[in-house]
Amino acid sequence: MSTKSNLNDNLIISEWTEHVRNLNTEYTLETGKIKKFKLDVFGCQMNERDAETIAGMLTDMGYEEVYGDDFADIIVFVTCCVRENAEEKIYGHIGALSKVCEEKGSIIVASGCMMQQPHVVEKIKQSYKNVKIVFGTHNVHMFPELLYRYLTKGKRVFEVWEKEQRIIEELPIKRAEKHKAWVNIILGCNNFCTYCIVPHVRGRERSRKMEDILSEVRALAEDGCKEITLLGQNVNSYGNDLGEKDLFAKLLYAIEEIDGIHRVRFMTSHPKDLSDSLIDAMKNCSKVCNHLHLPFQAGSNRILKLMNRKYTREHYLELIGKIKAAVPDIALSTDIIVGFPGETEEDFEQTLDIVEKVGFDSAFMFIYSPRKGTPAAKLEQTTPSEVISQRFKRLADLQTEIATKLAKRFEGKTVEVLVDGPSKQNPEMLSGRTRDNRLVNFKAEGVEKGEFVIVEIVRAGAFWLEGRGGK
Ligand code: 5AD
Ligand code: SF4
Repeated sequence: MSTKSNLNDNLIISEWTEHVRNLNTEYTLETGKIKKFKLDVFGCQMNERDAETIAGMLTDMGYEEVYGDDFADIIVFVTCCVRENAEEKIYGHIGALSKVCEEKGSIIVASGCMMQQPHVVEKIKQSYKNVKIVFGTHNVHMFPELLYRYLTKGKRVFEVWEKEQRIIEELPIKRAEKHKAWVNIILGCNNFCTYCIVPHVRGRERSRKMEDILSEVRALAEDGCKEITLLGQNVNSYGNDLGEKDLFAKLLYAIEEIDGIHRVRFMTSHPKDLSDSLIDAMKNCSKVCNHLHLPFQAGSNRILKLMNRKYTREHYLELIGKIKAAVPDIALSTDIIVGFPGETEEDFEQTLDIVEKVGFDSAFMFIYSPRKGTPAAKLEQTTPSEVISQRFKRLADLQTEIATKLAKRFEGKTVEVLVDGPSKQNPEMLSGRTRDNRLVNFKAEGVEKGEFVIVEIVRAGAFWLEGRGGK
């Protein structure tokens, strides 16, 4: 259900949408062609989800989506600034498009987290003239209006809101997949980990109303969706801003009742907010998958404190003990940062120790990257970069060894896989995910994307399982 003011916002958005659609209809009548758009999305699942809104808006405005090297009139970047290498890659991609913009008249739209940083917008204004429209994370809903302004006046449009606003429900959406879907439950982050730019670019926590989430999930189920992933920077604090305790666990119980949904996933969880009632819900809800992504970031209490993570290594290990006891076949994944300013060999060994003690099925490992405006960026880096690179390799090698050992137990066993389509590693194979989020590449006849299949695993490695399957 939308609120009244939401309805007003939605009316305004649909008016701008119609204005652009009219321009496109005229263009099609004159030329017989339909204008095309393409997305280039970086970063986390929240950005993937935002991209689906942008694609929905463009589709409603009369554009048709194209992929890969196909020509597009509009190329939209959904940007990420969590680490410096993401930013550099984005500048590289934008720069590489200058020829197609000049010769064929494509325009670039830049949106997302990077655009919330004034120094980035300034650099784009000065050095990337092919970027014609810029908006940020807080005003995605303005895109049709900004596009109309650009198309009718021909002047570059920069409109970035500094602060978050309340959530606007029922924005258009063109989902990337039918069989599985991202569902936002909470936007923003209140945690201010000292290394992280996210709270600065995505604003404070705002939870969607439970009834809005449930009606979205019901509609997805009716449309044939089988798996949903509930999204938020910190899903465990869902509902805190609505004044209710343990609302995330309640949400999982409510989704359990929705027919048609077979699998429920969620990410990301913060160890400081992972409650006993959530662990109970994971145990009791048959649709909640046996996978938990629980970033620990660093293994030493000294570094955890400098990171403002608000838990200790002992607390983290206790949580892992609880979740393993409640859900014995749980698969665990995590995020780890190597080389936080001043990380000593002893600190790093504590990180290796957690990796050994927990036994993660997978881990996302990052070298610390200073982000302008975050408290950690002011700390002096006393660890040489060669030492950090060596540590990163030691960590990655250890994690691969552990993940390989853990995966071996699947050889000769059968697993249930939800099919995603052709495999990226081997296009002759199909690929999909198990309930515990393992990637499986397999050979099978007559199997379609979006179906569940039983696959016999013939080979298991750290990053994927290989098998043969049938219905
Ligand atoms: N440097 C390196 N990694 C970072 N992350 C967040 N900020 C930084 C940074 N400045 C990592 C954390 C987080 C993941 C999404 O990205 O591990 O969990
Ligand atoms: Fe960044 Fe920490 Fe918030 Fe995650 S919890 S988005 S790491 S500030």
